[in-house]
Amino acid sequence: MFFLPMQHKAVGLAHNPLKAIVAPRPIGWISSRGADGSINLAPYSYFNAVCDDPAMVMFSAETLAGGQHKDSLRNIQETGEFVVNIVGEAQFEAMNISSGNYPYGENEFIHAGLEMIGSQTVAVPRAGGVPAALECRLHDTIALPRNAEDKGYVMVLGQVTGLYVDEAVVVDGRISYDRFVPISRLGYRDYGRTTNIFTATRPSD
Ligand SMILES: Cc1cc2nc3c(=O)[nH]c(=O)nc-3n(C[C@H](O)[C@H](O)[C@H](O)COP(=O)(O)O)c2cc1C
Repeated sequence: MFFLPMQHKAVGLAHNPLKAIVAPRPIGWISSRGADGSINLAPYSYFNAVCDDPAMVMFSAETLAGGQHKDSLRNIQETGEFVVNIVGEAQFEAMNISSGNYPYGENEFIHAGLEMIGSQTVAVPRAGGVPAALECRLHDTIALPRNAEDKGYVMVLGQVTGLYVDEAVVVDGRISYDRFVPISRLGYRDYGRTTNIFTATRPSD
């Protein structure tokens, strides 16, 4: 089958399959702080690392009709900092709770029963218990095109200023996927675990 973007129903697909096609995607579980000091935590699966040196990450936040911003984006635009928490199996339920639509200023760490752990390079806490976290400084935001309903996305690019890794997931100087099992987002309401790993060399190795 072939179809133009958003024309999936014409070929019998009930839901837009883009997220199921571009899968798995890591979940950037973003903590941020507003100018008023309020703390926020929310998951974003339009998220990835984009380069190593300097290390940069991106995520994109939907903006609603009229251009209203999600709390994470608002905070990052106000204070210029955020933390990407990596969701391990133990954090799945808390991550899901933190995606709830809470009023601005309500702290999702409290809703989800999470400890706030101070960061080293930014004034934004990471979530207690996560296997890894990336402390980030805002590099740029890029407004993406708006659709027919006047919704759009803003892409946030951040430079990584510090990396936290739980020593429990490190074995022989490497992150062990037996211990570090990041949860990823697939399409629909589906999620994945990073298991059944294989290794391959490149022709140039
Ligand atoms: C696994 C998962 C991934 C999500 N990914 C995104 C995303 O990439 N972009 C987005 O705008 N919302 C995404 N959401 C929805 C936001 O988490 C949700 O709107 C949340 O309330 C935003 O919180 P905030 O306003 O505190 O930033 C996702 C939700 C879940 C559960």
